[in-house]
Amino acid sequence: MVRGEKIYRYEKVAADLARLIDQGTFRPGDRVPSLRGISRRMQVSISTALEAYRLLEDRQLIEARPQSGYYVRRLSNYGLKEPKPIRPEKSPTTVSVDELVQMVIRDSRNRNLVPLGAAVPNPDNLPVDKLNRLLAAVARRKGVQSISYEMANGCEALRVQIARRLLAAGCSAHPQELVITSGCQEAVALSLMAVCRPGDTVAIESPTYFNHLQTLEVLHLKALEIPSHPASGISFAALETALKKHRIGACLLIPNFSNPLGSLMPDEQKQALAELIVRHDLPLIEDDIYGDLGFAPERPPVVKAFDKKGLVILCSSFSKTLAPGYRIGWIHPGRFQAEIERLKTACTIATATAPQLAVAEFLNNGGYDHHLRKIRRIYMGQIWSMTQAVSKFFPPGTRVTRPAGGFVLWVELPEYVDSLKLYELALQAGITIAPGPIFSIRRGYRNYIRLNAAFWSEKIEKALALLGHLAENLK
Ligand SMILES: Cc1ncc(COP(=O)(O)O)c(C=O)c1O
Repeated sequence: MVRGEKIYRYEKVAADLARLIDQGTFRPGDRVPSLRGISRRMQVSISTALEAYRLLEDRQLIEARPQSGYYVRRLSNYGLKEPKPIRPEKSPTTVSVDELVQMVIRDSRNRNLVPLGAAVPNPDNLPVDKLNRLLAAVARRKGVQSISYEMANGCEALRVQIARRLLAAGCSAHPQELVITSGCQEAVALSLMAVCRPGDTVAIESPTYFNHLQTLEVLHLKALEIPSHPASGISFAALETALKKHRIGACLLIPNFSNPLGSLMPDEQKQALAELIVRHDLPLIEDDIYGDLGFAPERPPVVKAFDKKGLVILCSSFSKTLAPGYRIGWIHPGRFQAEIERLKTACTIATATAPQLAVAEFLNNGGYDHHLRKIRRIYMGQIWSMTQAVSKFFPPGTRVTRPAGGFVLWVELPEYVDSLKLYELALQAGITIAPGPIFSIRRGYRNYIRLNAAFWSEKIEKALALLGHLAENLK
């Protein structure tokens, strides 16, 4: 459910109960109130209570036991602790991850391998036919326009749709204040170019998405890794301290469902962060690519929603929700708009026109919210299934995150597991994974891996069993 959209009563009932389960009021194996009980307590009809319980069943939070009632599922990940945040380096460091990242990306593109490496969505869950039909129809209808250069800031119809959707993230933007980019990666790169000069230091979460590290590297920027918590993201206190101690040119963060942690920065912290950057006159590049993929009914706000000075540069794309290959992303650049448009022209002139028109059409009347509800439910279920498999097959001592959204899991293996060795062994067995060292500038996280939970099947489960076995054999 996104902000501004109607919340049905059953969704509210489900969200209230889910919160009680999450807080531990009801634990795995506990019986939850009967339908009659919940209808009385929450003053809703039995059919509303039933719909709420069906939703919780879909989300794998409760299960019905014949003639007995509804119970909190025995989530065996409750036995797996969350990974410990590590202490990253204390001083800014020149970034050098290029080679490793290239290797992992190259292997992830190999369709013959089991895809546990790259954080790509499962095409079976994307509206492939509908999008391609729209692309053909729009190209026919628009004729020459669809093969012509767009303005540097992109197609207006698409900017209008994005501006409307931004309301759900707590932001109001005029379509003229948005710039369309070729994916979120270009959005982040243009933002870094707009606010930093070679040699500047950028504060980042640790661990963080490896392509961001690669972008820092090619732009000759230094990085300062700030410890991040698996549930709430970057340590605010550590960031504050770092800002006092170092000259930092910008922050680059993924506050909503970070990659790889799946962490979600609490709203109060987002507000505090927006205030902190004003005190330091510090641009914040906010990557919200997973923002639409939360598991709670409400879409979380972006930090940009609290930005009064135009210091937050909000970046996102439709790569995780619609079509990674269309390469449609966007920026809400705040006070850096003129510079970002200049850089966009200098780097790529404009983003390809036809996919922009097709995405605009889809957002306008293709049922995007319905699609999001469907995939959020699927990814939540698959995160749970994958967590179960990790707890069953991986060596004792393994820890795993409990992401609040998105579709990746960050797994801490026992100390004896070298994830680069595991990467090689997995590759020989036809499986790709993302090894921990590519998520940090000093190639830390040696015994960590990231798993993509966007795909689920018996084959994936078997691959996880094999992976667990390979890890155990590294002892
Ligand atoms: C956090 C994050 N930002 C950016 C990107 C790249 O997005 P795009 O494919 O839209 O360029 C990804 C892709 O995995 C990502 O996980």
